[in-house]
Amino acid sequence: MASPSFSAPKGTRDVLPAESGRWAALIARFATLADRAGYGLVVSPMFEDLDVFRRVGDATDIVTKEMYDFVDKGGRHVALRPEGTASVVRAYVQHRPTDHPWKAWYAAPNFRYERPQAGRYRQHHQLGVEALGSADPDLDVEVIALQAELYRSLGLTRVDLLVNSMGTPADRAAYARALGAWLTDRIDDLDPADRATVEVNPMRVLDSKREQTRAVTAGAPRTIDSLSAEARAHFERVQEGLRDLGIDHRIEPRLVRGLDYYTHTTFEFQALALESAQNAIGGGGRYDGLAEALGGPATPGVGFGSGIERILLACDAEGVFPAPEHRVDVFVVDVVDGTHARRLTDELRRAGLRADRAFDGRSMKSQMKSADRSGAVVAVIVGDDEAAAGEVTVRELRDGTDQQRVPVGELVDHLRKRL
Ligand code: HAM
Repeated sequence: MASPSFSAPKGTRDVLPAESGRWAALIARFATLADRAGYGLVVSPMFEDLDVFRRVGDATDIVTKEMYDFVDKGGRHVALRPEGTASVVRAYVQHRPTDHPWKAWYAAPNFRYERPQAGRYRQHHQLGVEALGSADPDLDVEVIALQAELYRSLGLTRVDLLVNSMGTPADRAAYARALGAWLTDRIDDLDPADRATVEVNPMRVLDSKREQTRAVTAGAPRTIDSLSAEARAHFERVQEGLRDLGIDHRIEPRLVRGLDYYTHTTFEFQALALESAQNAIGGGGRYDGLAEALGGPATPGVGFGSGIERILLACDAEGVFPAPEHRVDVFVVDVVDGTHARRLTDELRRAGLRADRAFDGRSMKSQMKSADRSGAVVAVIVGDDEAAAGEVTVRELRDGTDQQRVPVGELVDHLRKRL
């Protein structure tokens, strides 16, 4: 029988060094920014009761068509998380934290059974925040500013921020009805592939990328024209806040986003360096009814999610935030029996230095080659002579060939001074 050959499942990918160094650096950067703004890390399960996600959008593709759901061995119908907000809000409702707003950040995988393509995966990862317990429009501004600062700090410059308002839940419902009627009157003019959506979720039609449909919806009624006074005041305060902080933005009345829970502010950041189908590097908005829909007390909330893969694609396209160089400080070359390399690497690492070595009893020449490849600044060499004298030879690897003998007991101090 031929031996099996496996690869990562369709639509998923392995993140290997050196890309993973950049991945980790991105999460660390985000953790710092979130921490500075008072957000604490929340780690929630990767799967939930299917109904948790049904509540966030049973008329959306994400929930009806793209869910990885299954019945577990105990007969529970569960689903892998397709997005982060529902899990965090479920956790909020379950634990009822009393500090308001309760501010959470996360970096976690999500699963959507989508048609894979560049920048669109079946497992993708999001950095995000959720803030619950305040309806203050300044909190919307804070959340948007945090996201804008993340992109700015990475060096991204070609990023557009689009904002819109869905209004109060009542505004949103009235708008959906009015839009549904307007689209029904023009149903034959829409691209045939979008016609069925008018019935199920008319707002999603605004999001269509199909030319024929876009030509029709260009003249569609706009959410921002039918906002209640309360919603208009909220949206104006958000825009004023963005202007005040110098965050460029543009109102996009057709921005409806792919989830049903949004009220008031919605927003999306688009990377202009990416193909338009996958250029949303992050988005979010308010979801003032979600905690209640998940069985909790009425609690306003706002947040965003930003795709790690897409952020990194945008960085590649703009040539910024390169992978950090992966290298060690010291490479230990042991041509005696490997025992010295075993002890010295351990000692150097405990002293906080990055140290590596070769294995398998290789020749001096072969170990020196590995030392060069490792990017180390110096090689610490132990041969029979050095071992007998209780010393090592420290050889410069990068600039010149300078080398000197150092007693083993003084090696750490010597290297600390030198590196
Ligand atoms: P979303 O717009 O569905 O919103 O996803 C957020 C971001 O995740 C997108 O802008 C994109 O960067 C990335 N993303 C989504 N799907 C994929 C995919 N298949 N492959 C690669 N990247 C992807 C949400 O998920 C909301 N939970 C955001 C939010 C948080 N709203 C309020 N709080």
